[in-house]
Amino acid sequence: MRKPIIAGNWKMNKLSPEAVELAGELKNKAGGIADREIVLCPPFTVLSSVKEVIAGSSIRLGAQNMHWEISGAYTGEVSPTMLKDIGCDYVILGHSERRQYFGETDEMVNKKTKIAFSIGLIPIVCVGETLPQRETGETLAVIEEQIKAGLSGLTEEESKGLVVAYEPVWAIGTGKTATPDQAEEVQRFIRKLLGQMFGKENAQAIRILYGGSINPDNISALMSCENVDGGLVGGASLKAESFLKVIGY
Ligand code: PGA
Repeated sequence: MRKPIIAGNWKMNKLSPEAVELAGELKNKAGGIADREIVLCPPFTVLSSVKEVIAGSSIRLGAQNMHWEISGAYTGEVSPTMLKDIGCDYVILGHSERRQYFGETDEMVNKKTKIAFSIGLIPIVCVGETLPQRETGETLAVIEEQIKAGLSGLTEEESKGLVVAYEPVWAIGTGKTATPDQAEEVQRFIRKLLGQMFGKENAQAIRILYGGSINPDNISALMSCENVDGGLVGGASLKAESFLKVIGY
């Protein structure tokens, strides 16, 4: 059985007081949940304060990005060990906004994924097609390329701890969610690819999340799909009320 993950991607939102307030509310109402993993991914600037608030609860901390080197002359970047040092367990990698606005490539995602495993961070590797790609029937080819290039060279042992997020770009922040059938079709395909890369049994252990306009009304139908093991939630994770409803499905 794969333990579901509900991760909140706060993106570039929340100053310290709001971050602390939101994390506090979530800790009070969901800090004891054990049958699913709740992960908060706030901006770098409030990772520490959120960590302090959720300490002692089952809620985990994640970052939204990182560099692929441990240290060095990379002005403005944050390293994997810095995230570990601050108490992160997870890191989102290859989010479509990173790919779109910051030129992140599959090769960079691959380097980041490998270093994440080597220092004990769990990567949440995002893949997804754009609207034109879906409309021209390229969805599965795009996903295959992103999965194969982004995850190449991982060991079978590492693969078991991997988290993949399928986030159709056209569904992110648009209010247009993939239907459960659309999500399941791609996520089943992702698991098949993972099986070819890492072995069928290992692929069964990998959590595959869906992301893109998840809200309290659509989460339960998505979660009922065989290959949807959780959600990566943007907009609906910014308010305790909606995120708690999503957490409760
Ligand atoms: P959204 O964002 O829920 O606001 O669509 C999801 C994401 O980008 O991870």
